[in-house]
Amino acid sequence: MASWVSTLFFLIWLSVSQAQERSGKIPTVEFISESLINNVVQDPQTGRIYLGAVNNIFQLSPSLQKEARTETGPKKDAKTCTPPASGCQDTVLMPNSNKLPLVHPSNGSLIVCGSRYRGICSLLNLSNVEQELYYNDNKGQRTYVASIEDNVNVVSVMSNYTKNGRTFKVFLVGKGYGSLDSTKLISTRILEDYQDWDVFENIIEASAVQTAPFVLKYLHDFQHAFKEDGFVYFLFSRTLDGTDNKNLTFVSRLCENDQHYYSYTELQLTCGTNNRYNKVQAAYVAFPGKELARVMSQSGNYGTVTSFTKVLFMVAHPDDDESDSALCMYPLNSINQQLMDIISACYSDSGEISGVPAVDVPYSSQTYTACTSKISNIF
Ligand SMILES: *[C@@H]1O[C@H](CO)[C@@H](O)[C@H](O)[C@H]1NC(C)=O
Ligand SMILES: *[C@@H]1O[C@H](CO)[C@@H](O)[C@H](O)[C@H]1NC(C)=O
Ligand SMILES: *[C@@H]1O[C@H](CO)[C@@H](O)[C@H](O)[C@H]1NC(C)=O
Ligand SMILES: *[C@@H]1O[C@H](CO)[C@@H](O)[C@H](O)[C@H]1NC(C)=O
Repeated sequence: MASWVSTLFFLIWLSVSQAQERSGKIPTVEFISESLINNVVQDPQTGRIYLGAVNNIFQLSPSLQKEARTETGPKKDAKTCTPPASGCQDTVLMPNSNKLPLVHPSNGSLIVCGSRYRGICSLLNLSNVEQELYYNDNKGQRTYVASIEDNVNVVSVMSNYTKNGRTFKVFLVGKGYGSLDSTKLISTRILEDYQDWDVFENIIEASAVQTAPFVLKYLHDFQHAFKEDGFVYFLFSRTLDGTDNKNLTFVSRLCENDQHYYSYTELQLTCGTNNRYNKVQAAYVAFPGKELARVMSQSGNYGTVTSFTKVLFMVAHPDDDESDSALCMYPLNSINQQLMDIISACYSDSGEISGVPAVDVPYSSQTYTACTSKISNIF
């Protein structure tokens, strides 16, 4: 009798799933957050999705079922308060805008940084974000990562950092400038205490992208960070200079193993006729489908594109009209080729450095060509 029952269930299941297949309908799944969602990240190992929203971190299953949620705000804070907040005066309840969920697989944790308490971060349990694994608001300015400004975007990627023969997990952060933040546009943050280092501390001092006077007037707005083939890329917009407020979109690249950011190089990306869509809004890197790859190759604008050539897809809008937008595509190959051209332009014909930095506005940076080059060979 038992076997009959199970067969029946099997047959019913089979006919239902076949019917679904025939009708070609994929059920729409959705998750609605009551507060604004700033960032979304997926853990490739489990398929789980984490949302950094205002006052909440959500943990969802791959089919967008809510598994856990942690409330991170509002919290009593003051913009000028140096944490811990218990010692601060004139604090009021303020929303906590979570900006950076980042999966830290080897630690089993999710890195989250909000807009409260100077953008301090914490580590949450990847399997249950309600459980906080690490938080310390006593370590001072060096450990502040995000921004107290709700509208300053923060992007990041995981990486490794080697010192004294040991490899440490770190994350690279790209962040615009909020009035009371550190002025570092790009920083590398350690994830454990080691010698003088505290968890979340910036461990790289590099003049190129961390120099104070530039930052304020260029209004950097970071939208995406990703890694590919030993390089780390940041996608952002910034204004032309202090007097012209017009934004331009840039992709910048540095070698992942470059502990001084010497390899930092920028390339402007234009989108649309006369660069009408000048300000990046969102971006993603993916392989193109066969058909798209074929059309891109045929257009002659991108060199040869195959379905194994990764492409940067970017949505951008004009400065004066956020409701108008366009999707632009850039194969990473061609981005890399043009970055190489910029770098080569810094070398005179004899192969010596001409003395002109690869990036002259607004940073002045030295540069080297390949991630494997020894910096000392060049300078
Ligand atoms: C994280 O949560 C899971 C599931 O609740 C639990 O089994 C695990 O022990 C937790 N990890 C830590 C480090 O507490
Ligand atoms: C760090 O290095 C290890 C060993 O080479 C590698 O497996 C891992 O993917 C690297 N992690 C990151 C985040 O790059
Ligand atoms: C995760 O990282 C935190 C901060 O460095 C550390 O305290 C904790 O022991 C780590 N946990 C694991 C399982 O590695
Ligand atoms: C450029 O973008 C910044 C924000 O990233 C914005 O404040 C500024 O107004 C924009 N410039 C123009 C001309 O709209």
